[in-house]
Amino acid sequence: MANTILVGAQWGDEGKGKIIDVLTEQADVVVRYAGGNNAGHTVWVGKQKYVLHLIPSGILRQRKLCVIGNGVVIDPIGLVSEIRALHKLGIKVGKNLVVSETAHVVFPYHRELDAQREVLKGKNKIGTTKRGIGPAYGDKAARVGLRMADLVDPVRLQEKLARRIAENNEVLKALGAKPLSFKAVFAEYNEAGKFLKPFVENTVVLLHQTMRRGEDILFEGAQGTFLDIDHGTYPFVTSSNTTAGGACTGSGVPPHRMDRVVGVMKAYTTRVGEGPLPTENQEISDLLHGMGREFGATTGRARRCGWFDSVATRHATMVNGIDDLAVTNLDGLDTVATIKACVAYRHGKKRYDYMPNDAEVLAACEPVYAEFEGWLTPTHQAKTWKQLPPKARAYLKAIAELTGAKLFIASVGPGRDQTIFV
Ligand code: IMP
Repeated sequence: MANTILVGAQWGDEGKGKIIDVLTEQADVVVRYAGGNNAGHTVWVGKQKYVLHLIPSGILRQRKLCVIGNGVVIDPIGLVSEIRALHKLGIKVGKNLVVSETAHVVFPYHRELDAQREVLKGKNKIGTTKRGIGPAYGDKAARVGLRMADLVDPVRLQEKLARRIAENNEVLKALGAKPLSFKAVFAEYNEAGKFLKPFVENTVVLLHQTMRRGEDILFEGAQGTFLDIDHGTYPFVTSSNTTAGGACTGSGVPPHRMDRVVGVMKAYTTRVGEGPLPTENQEISDLLHGMGREFGATTGRARRCGWFDSVATRHATMVNGIDDLAVTNLDGLDTVATIKACVAYRHGKKRYDYMPNDAEVLAACEPVYAEFEGWLTPTHQAKTWKQLPPKARAYLKAIAELTGAKLFIASVGPGRDQTIFV
């Protein structure tokens, strides 16, 4: 398969978990390179549902090495409970999981600050997952963060954590929040550190060893292109580079070793949290929520829904260098008589064929739509391209063409066998 980066081409929740799971079959190593437990990848294996937040979904397949790279921020309490939950479901987690010693750690003060900043922002809030992601990456950039190597060394943990808690307690008090007890936080995190120590390693060296052995790596993106700290709809973004470039910095695998980029997008558009979503549409939101679809895997929040937006996905193709497209949730449109896809934006007299960088301008953009006849037939049982209704095929071809990449996969349901290779 060669080294493949998989990214979300929209605002996250594109159904990456399932596509990663399918592609993992052909990979030897799966690497998570950005984000934290703000992500939630849902994978169905038979009738069993797995929701993974930090651990690559490759863990559900035997003989795959899963790596949490240096670009990830790790809530160790969350990671321990994810490992334990997998054990309970009979999934072995041992030497098949390796965690970077330089990945930064998320502490309770990060979560508390995340929540407090949202309160302060009032109606301008970002709508974060409140997992402490922004403050943890903030500490990383400010060079005051603790890394996994610190977490698993009780002496270093005690010394560094004491300083960080003292400083953050002053901030929390000023914000009217309760200060944290160093003793309690240290006890809990030291315990998690002891549990995680066997997993912590130099993952950069490890990944280069696997490449020398000729093994293939799948880089599993979290969130989506428009939540990228640099390329997303700032400030309504997450705090990491979710785009393909993040796979290099977040793993230590250089750009010239990357062979292919797969972009995952839904056949329509969704977003959770605040921020512009030009094609947002109540009718399609009601339809999808009515079908029990589009509720977040991490927070359970109802996602905002809209028509497919090819201005956005075209931009995603450009920024990530997407070669191949996986289109998911096609079956979500099975009952729609006339399907719309946005082909440009209008802002006053100006027409945009690309995404404006200013979130305020984007929020004021009106979509220009092309219309497609719906297929009005269930697609969830289709196993091959030929078994899809001709109008569904026409729609898929059109959105791939508008996006500017090759159609590779169409997904018609959550199961592994509901994946059509085009
Ligand atoms: P944070 O990453 O928790 O700071 O949240 C920042 C923004 O990214 C919010 O709008 C979240 O809803 C969104 N976000 C973060 N993680 C995900 C995800 O995995 N899927 C979809 N949206 C996400």
